[in-house]
Amino acid sequence: MAVRELMENSLDAAELQGILPDVYVRIISSDGAAANMEPTAYRLSVADNGPGVDPHHVPRAFGKVFYGSKYVLRQSRGMFGLGGTMAILYGQITTNKPVKVATSTDGKTKHIFDMLIEISENKPVILKKETEGAAGKTGTRVDVMLEGDYIRAAQKIGDYFKQTALVASYANLTLLDPEGRITAYERATESMPSVPQETLPHPHGMDVEAFKRLIKITDEKTMEKLMGNKHFHRVGETTAKKFLAFAGINPNARPGKLTNEQIVKIVDALQHYPDFLPPDASILSPVGEQILQAGMVKELQPEFSTVVERPPGSYSGFPFLVEVGVAYGGRVLEPGRKLLRFANRIPLLYDESSDVSFKVMNEQIDWRRYHVPDEAPLALITHICSTKVPYKTVGKEYIADRPEIESEIRNALRDALRRLSLYLSKKGSMEAVQRKINIYGKYLPMIAKFATELAERKKPPNYKRLVKESEETPGEEEAGVGDEQKKEGQGKLNGQAKVEEYS
Ligand SMILES: Nc1ncnc2c1ncn2[C@@H]1O[C@H](COP(=O)(O)OP(=O)(O)OP(=O)(O)O)[C@@H](O)[C@H]1O
Ligand SMILES: [Mg+2]
Repeated sequence: MAVRELMENSLDAAELQGILPDVYVRIISSDGAAANMEPTAYRLSVADNGPGVDPHHVPRAFGKVFYGSKYVLRQSRGMFGLGGTMAILYGQITTNKPVKVATSTDGKTKHIFDMLIEISENKPVILKKETEGAAGKTGTRVDVMLEGDYIRAAQKIGDYFKQTALVASYANLTLLDPEGRITAYERATESMPSVPQETLPHPHGMDVEAFKRLIKITDEKTMEKLMGNKHFHRVGETTAKKFLAFAGINPNARPGKLTNEQIVKIVDALQHYPDFLPPDASILSPVGEQILQAGMVKELQPEFSTVVERPPGSYSGFPFLVEVGVAYGGRVLEPGRKLLRFANRIPLLYDESSDVSFKVMNEQIDWRRYHVPDEAPLALITHICSTKVPYKTVGKEYIADRPEIESEIRNALRDALRRLSLYLSKKGSMEAVQRKINIYGKYLPMIAKFATELAERKKPPNYKRLVKESEETPGEEEAGVGDEQKKEGQGKLNGQAKVEEYS
């Protein structure tokens, strides 16, 4: 979890500034042993080439839990301002060592902090602060000493890297592990997803805490102004008036004077008023077909892969969008269906069987329809991006089965499987053609020989030309499948020169 949280912060920070991320992770055991059977202290370092953190913010960003939380929403890996700080706190609790944060925003000066978190007051304590030259490089490096069980964690860390490399195919990721092995995942594309935009909360997504926070920060003196004045996504003055009438709240009521009961009543009305405009999803940032294809080709080397991106939808006022990738065959994938789940580009590695994608894959897809046997080497990739991913628990582990999301995953998966099924049937036809050609090749010379003798001719017909022709002009049925694959347009064939030539 510590590796994941620190890496997420690095990736978020670089991507937000449109920087192609380079993230370097090093884990070494404090006693120098390659791998300890017992949990022991490790030094974890995560360094990035991101924009760096303003030195004034460093103490709070890394030494105060919940520092990240803001009123506005944006699709990002980080959610609460808890993740990185928790990893640091965990390190402090288990090893009693300070965290070291080195960061530069200008590439000239590097600010280095040694810090502890004063737990009882949730505030940072700076033990040492120094500066040195940054050698032209911006970015952040966090060093934390923490107790861990590397033998047990190694596989999850490996999975996390592999899967991150798959969706963030534009990042360079390097892991140096306690055994001294370096695993490098190199970027396969220079394109990055669009930078997610900030958005105001949609009224349907309001809760009592968020509303109280709003009352605290607003300068507005009346409820009418508060509602209609740029605190809510797509709510203007007219809608604000209508809403307050619906909620039974005096437009001139002072936000600061609302009772708890009134607040609960307003929030309930906000969640249920039917005439708010739906959230605008253009602020979301899906991985995109090209980047996901590049990732699948790089990490899975499949024989066939395809990506389906669904149009955006919304649940409870939060816009969301589903992307699905299907990779089939090749040398890397093992027999059987493998589900790889992602949310806001984070691989979800735990509790697969509780996740909505697992439910769709196992309960809502009629696999026989797509002629994909259970043992087919297949990877299904599901990605859900949203300004708020509906995780079922506080950890970012698995996604709740919200009906709106469930149906988008189902549709995307069906679309992708239809393409796979077309590819497979085309490949099957190709093999049938090949078999036919082989038979012609075997018997035609003999038929030609005997026919020449029977016709009492000297020169046999040119049967070689016939074999060649049947290779070039396949039967009608196969050509039809090829057309359809073209029409669907998105199917991509890898390492199948023959099939491509044919289509
Ligand atoms: N490597 C980094 N580069 C730049 N800024 C960073 C970096 N790491 C952390 N930050 C800043 O510190 C803040 C706190 O990070 P933290 O991980 O605690 O919370 P978060 O990422 O906002 O949410 P989550 O709890 O989901 O991780 C971030 O929001 C970010 O502004
Ligand atoms: Mg974080």
